[in-house]
Amino acid sequence: MNQPIMKGVATLNPPAYVQNQKLINWISEMAALTKPDQIIWCDGSQEEYDRLCAQMVAAGTMKKLNPAKRPNSYLACSDPSDVARVEDRTFICCAKKEDAGPTNNWMAPSEMRATLNPLFDGCMRGRTMYVVPFSMGPLGSPIAHIGVELSDSPYVAVNMRIMTRMGKAVYDVLGTEGDFVPCIHTVGAPLQAGQADVAWPCNATKYIVHYPETREIWSYGSGYGGNALLGKKCFALRIASTMGRDQGWLAEHMLILGVESPEGKKHYVAAAFPSACGKTNFAMLIPPASFTGWKITTIGDDIAWIKPGADGQLYAINPEAGYFGVAPGTNTATNSNCMASLTANTIFTNVGLTDEGDVWWEGMTKEAPAHLIDWQGKDWTPAIAKETGRKAAHPNARFTVAATQNPVIDAAWDDPAGVPISAFIFGGRRSSTVPLVTEARDWVEGVYMAATMGSETTAAAAGQMGVVRRDPFAMLPFIGYNMSDYFQHWLNMGQKIAQSGAQQPKIYCVNWFRTDANGKFVWPGFGDNMRVLQWMVDRIEGTGKGVENIFGITPEFKDLRWDGLAFTQEQFNTITSLDLNAWQDELQLHTELFEKLAYHLPPELEATRTKLLGKLHS
Ligand code: GTP
Ligand code: SPV
Ligand code: MN
Repeated sequence: MNQPIMKGVATLNPPAYVQNQKLINWISEMAALTKPDQIIWCDGSQEEYDRLCAQMVAAGTMKKLNPAKRPNSYLACSDPSDVARVEDRTFICCAKKEDAGPTNNWMAPSEMRATLNPLFDGCMRGRTMYVVPFSMGPLGSPIAHIGVELSDSPYVAVNMRIMTRMGKAVYDVLGTEGDFVPCIHTVGAPLQAGQADVAWPCNATKYIVHYPETREIWSYGSGYGGNALLGKKCFALRIASTMGRDQGWLAEHMLILGVESPEGKKHYVAAAFPSACGKTNFAMLIPPASFTGWKITTIGDDIAWIKPGADGQLYAINPEAGYFGVAPGTNTATNSNCMASLTANTIFTNVGLTDEGDVWWEGMTKEAPAHLIDWQGKDWTPAIAKETGRKAAHPNARFTVAATQNPVIDAAWDDPAGVPISAFIFGGRRSSTVPLVTEARDWVEGVYMAATMGSETTAAAAGQMGVVRRDPFAMLPFIGYNMSDYFQHWLNMGQKIAQSGAQQPKIYCVNWFRTDANGKFVWPGFGDNMRVLQWMVDRIEGTGKGVENIFGITPEFKDLRWDGLAFTQEQFNTITSLDLNAWQDELQLHTELFEKLAYHLPPELEATRTKLLGKLHS
């Protein structure tokens, strides 16, 4: 094989099993630009994972947890400035600004390349470049796609091993001619000769850049989550959504779960909630004890790739292989399946470290440990917390764990063919206005509901928390092209299903987060969300009752099952009532969104808004 010669940088030495010249040429070019000290070709083995973790323990990046408490598990604490996705530093760089649309940061590709080239020049000096080959979706599946991430972060390499199908076998699928999405990532902290490293290198300057037309990802300056694990939001959502637009499929910020009735009837539903709004929890839901015989199983907890099958129905796969989930609030009472997943082989990031060498976060147990070391390395006690407000865990602290550790993983989770989708659910975090559940009367109305969804911002993204913003389809930070074109794509997909003669999935809008006068959640949520899910299944089966209002179809109190829960008609009213004044304001926000998205906005959505306004005023 023709191996380019480089001066002054690490030699490439690709292993014999890497036979793709395009890949070797690209890595050679990136190594020449970034100038790492050495290049390590990750094979995805356990031995390699253990070695990189041990190396990070020695470097102070990670701590090994007490094996008696949490075997083979680690805690990493990030730089306090690098704790979440940076949406204002995330760019879609396509030729025409209109194609990125008004919801994305845009820069012309040539201008962005001119900006990034000097930043990437020598950015890996003194560091190792890890070559991380991965498949999004089951290896070799017709729905799957391959990516290769070059990163100077060993933390990224080990997390990618959990989050994706990572390793040597990817090269067999890639072969000599196979295609891959090139992903380059650097923490942006080169080391001079003799310079000591820090525990979590990163750079105050950050760029998370996508070139959808050439399908490339360039990430600079952050080592955290979606900024750095490039298979996740960058590839599986932003790049994949543009692939889906071009090829007739959907890449969505959705969990996928299976729900089986006591009679053995099974449906799969996909649900889009914005970041930190309940996807992982819903995907692993444990039905209330009174729901004897109902079973929930997980296909995925964050991302769905959805394609029409030969029968015209939509089939979904989880492109990921692990969960990068929110730690705070997770406990055995609200999500015991999740807690069971985390008992071993887990990487925790930005949670507290107990004196026993285990982890703790806010909401994990009723009583906090008497003392721990918080995510910033400081002494923490309940008294200190009370006095200073300091948290043991960062609100966006996360765990990384293999999907196979989930006790309720669905038997078909790894099926290359995917699972048929019976319903889509969209839900935001809204303390008021939006009722518990509404069924769209038709596909267009469902697309309208999803397109106009609002949600209060969370700690998953850097910036202000608790502010209501429009987050269409929970995709605001993740769509790789023009939002209005994306709405059109959804309308087109609905038409295609109808034309094929297949049943269109039903579409629902939910809100688990309405609060009372004291700011407390009224709806118990978590396992009790089963009550709403069961109603949806009944509706799909044609047996569920509901009434029509201005916005769609909703259940009455008597239409949901209440056994095993003390929940009154009055409480139900609190979370299902429609405040027409609040809805005036809400529709005004829809109007503002549509004004912003006027270019290519599908006329059907505008017509739906006009219809709703008319009903509201009559
Ligand atoms: P990302 O991984 O950021 O995409 O988040 P996610 O959508 O998977 O959210 P997740 O399930 O991790 O939940 C985020 C937070 O919301 C956690 O603190 C949960 O405890 C809390 N939460 C989840 N479901 C519910 C619910 O039904 N009711 C209430 N009140 N809180 C919930
Ligand atoms: C989200 O923010 O929606 C996440 C976490 O799932 S991250 O991988 O950081 O994007
Ligand atoms: Mn997410």
